[in-house]
Amino acid sequence: MTTSARTRVLTGITTTGTPHLGNYVGAIRPTVQASRNPQTDGFYFLADYHALIKCEDPLRIQRSTMEIAASWIAAGLDPDKVTFYRQSDIPEIPELTWLLTCVTGKGLLNRAHAYKAAVDKNHAAGHDTDADVTAGLFMYPVLMGADILMFKAHKVPVGRDQIQHIEMARDMASSFNHLYGEHFVLPEAVVEESVALLPGLDGRKMSKSYDNTIPLFAPAAQLRKQIMGIVTDSKAPGEPKATEGSALFQIYQAFASAEETAQLAKAYAEGIAWGDAKQLLFERIDREVAPMREHYQALIANPAELDHLLRAGADKARQLATPFMRELRHAVGLRALTAPASLRESAAHKPVLASFKQYREQDGLFYFKLVSAQGEVLLQSQGFAAPREAGQLIGRLQQEGAPALAALKNHFPALTPQAEAAALTELEKIKNSN
Ligand code: TRP
Repeated sequence: MTTSARTRVLTGITTTGTPHLGNYVGAIRPTVQASRNPQTDGFYFLADYHALIKCEDPLRIQRSTMEIAASWIAAGLDPDKVTFYRQSDIPEIPELTWLLTCVTGKGLLNRAHAYKAAVDKNHAAGHDTDADVTAGLFMYPVLMGADILMFKAHKVPVGRDQIQHIEMARDMASSFNHLYGEHFVLPEAVVEESVALLPGLDGRKMSKSYDNTIPLFAPAAQLRKQIMGIVTDSKAPGEPKATEGSALFQIYQAFASAEETAQLAKAYAEGIAWGDAKQLLFERIDREVAPMREHYQALIANPAELDHLLRAGADKARQLATPFMRELRHAVGLRALTAPASLRESAAHKPVLASFKQYREQDGLFYFKLVSAQGEVLLQSQGFAAPREAGQLIGRLQQEGAPALAALKNHFPALTPQAEAAALTELEKIKNSN
């Protein structure tokens, strides 16, 4: 299979922390496994520009970059088979971010979940709408759009909370393509439903924000000590124990075979002492992790080699990014004064009609909007339970034009008088073009 026929899979890892067992089971292990599929062309990068939005500690950024890079390599990611790089080694990324910024509606970014959550929190506390909100947080989705669109990724494996960002990247891609011709691939989010969600030391989901994590590559003695600290109930040795709701059991299951898991279930029923169960868990995890830990420690001891490896990844990535950026600059008009205009840029080829766009939000509902040729949102619908309902309304608006909008106004809750006036004009144009 040639490179171009392979599915390009791309994902980024924000460099603000030390990888823990939850990251390993939920992201590193499945991604490394998927990266071995010869049908895919993997792009994996350290999202260190994104890290700056959340973390102002330079040492932590640097340390985390090293730890995450070493973890992925130690866990089996093969930098010769995939493209593995630091986002900040690709100067074309911030450059593309600006081009995308110019085709992204501010209103679209207002609706980003992370930004909205910050605003809601401010309102609840009686603060200013944007108190403590940096423009970086607001622009987060555009930078992420640049990461994805730069490399024409088809599939983007992410957590559920990131789906909206991929939808936004699609939006940016289609606005840009609409204005300047087909340059970008429209990416799709891939959410892996089957990977284990690991509980942490206190039984809640293992997460840095709960401070209940177990580092992936802690020395064996520390790993054992932390495992001994996992919360259990107070059942005495000999008393049967429930596997249901046991964090210890769930973590074991994420590492063990079905057979081993069944054996532990049996031991629970037979009243294994918690200390013995924890010892079993430690041994099982250590069996998988110990060989990688050795590799990890060798990499951490030799940061020059990691630098070199990441540089080589960036060189590989830039072989695509540099010419593509040149193409994009040309497309928007940042080009030699002697360069000829392309055919589509002559007046006859300019996009003139507004168009409808349908999409699905994280709330599971179906929405549509009317977007002007300049990329401005003129109509924003309410959410519908079925895509058909949205489709029928679009059909009516296209066929009946302005009068239909008067009749259907209640479906556009946030309609301002200016937007309505612009929408009416555009709907008439659309009707007349049918
Ligand atoms: N925002 C992602 C996260 O928090 C990290 C990320 C940055 C990313 N750029 C990306 C993921 C591009 C996928 C594609 O998990």
